[in-house]
Amino acid sequence: MSVAKKVQPPEGESAQLQFQGETLELPVVCGTEGEKGLDISQLRSRLGLVTLDEGFVNTASCQSEITYLDGERGILHYRGHAIEDLAEKEDFLKVSTLLLYGEADAKKCKALQSEIARFGKTPKPILEMLQQFPKGAHPMGMLSSLVVALSGFNRDKMVEDPSEDQINILFGQMMAQLKNLAGYIGAFGQEKPILQSKFPELSYAADFYYLLTGKKPDPVVTKALDVLLILHADHEQNCSTSTVRLVGSSKANLYACISSGINALWGPLHGGANQAVIEMLEAIRRDGGDFKKYLQLAKDKSNPFRLMGFGHRVYKNFDPRAKIIKKTCDEVLTSLGVSDPLLEIAKGLEQEALRDEYFVSRKLYPNVDFYSGIIYKALGIEPALYTVLFALGRLPGWLAQWQEMRQSPQFRIGRPRQIYQGIPKP
Ligand code: SDX
Repeated sequence: MSVAKKVQPPEGESAQLQFQGETLELPVVCGTEGEKGLDISQLRSRLGLVTLDEGFVNTASCQSEITYLDGERGILHYRGHAIEDLAEKEDFLKVSTLLLYGEADAKKCKALQSEIARFGKTPKPILEMLQQFPKGAHPMGMLSSLVVALSGFNRDKMVEDPSEDQINILFGQMMAQLKNLAGYIGAFGQEKPILQSKFPELSYAADFYYLLTGKKPDPVVTKALDVLLILHADHEQNCSTSTVRLVGSSKANLYACISSGINALWGPLHGGANQAVIEMLEAIRRDGGDFKKYLQLAKDKSNPFRLMGFGHRVYKNFDPRAKIIKKTCDEVLTSLGVSDPLLEIAKGLEQEALRDEYFVSRKLYPNVDFYSGIIYKALGIEPALYTVLFALGRLPGWLAQWQEMRQSPQFRIGRPRQIYQGIPKP
């Protein structure tokens, strides 16, 4: 896997802002793929102004070399490599190495594998905590609690400014423990036993499945899990990644940062959508399968119902991940001899929406969450665990983005401003 070349952007242009007789030159920052942004770092000191951009629709929080997204053209690259190639040819450990270290030569992959294997055992008290959760507790709450609880058993790793070696150890431990906890939380929900990890005898994805089910997966299942984990691995400055960066900017320890990312991902507008999609499709099936009725509901502003798994802040074209997952859906269900009415309902919804003016005019397409749950369901995984699988996939992205933030020459605590609209001072 070659290292993508870094293209130097052309010399900076600038923009001018006039306000109350003052003129401020705003340098234009140009990205290596031609994206341009205004550097407003002098705005408040020179003109006494801040910008207001609710939801950060127009605001770049950082400059990053990790993931490139083109929402108009439906492009997604990790460290310069197209997601289509990575999903087809690589496994999750190799893509994790690529995201964390910028390249994935055999030496780097072996080093990450060894670190993960070194931390293959989950502390017994953590497993005892797991057993204390009531049946029906949501797996995302369990995961974020147990991840931050790990900090209590790793006080030696809680250094404010970890060295490169300490960071590599943290990465290995985090990847090992999230895999284990994802499997154990699923097993706990199914009243299955807690098993000893068989990584690296089993691959990362296969070991997760083994810890969850007690069975070694067949190659079709392992490949499907690898594809899903790879497709979820990073997505530039989404809500949960921005959370990890913001929490990390206070120099909070990595357990706290990842636990915060898990909690941000839990929301149904973000990673929680994959569970919400399956619940929506089941509701449509129970209601006779009339997906056109639900499409009308999704357009009705007086109704809170939204078409879960549809729409995206950045993609105003097909989410490239959804295309791959939809194709994988067909392949996995055929290979496993599974037919699922929910897949037909999902395909009908997609087809109907893509020719409906409401969705077309708003450029609402299926996103990563629309079809992923149908594959998880075919693998026998419970809907409440789907977002945990999203978190497991996103972990290397969170770690890579946290590292980039901490190692940035511009590192400083993140602290947005506001426009006060409360009771004026007397
Ligand atoms: C993820 O950011 C990332 O990269 C996230 C992610 C990642 O990998 O990290 O890609 C993962 O979170 C995918 C998104 C999962 N969420 C869902 O599927 C939930 C359903 N989707 C929506 O809630 C919505 O589309 C969002 C949250 C994804 C995006 O919200 P935005 O960008 O704030 O868009 P919006 O709410 O302003 O919508 C614009 C218009 C509105 O209508 P108008 O006010 O113009 O009339 O589109 C409508 C919305 O009402 N709309 C929908 C809709 N999504 C948007 N209408 C019906 N159903 C929907 N799903």
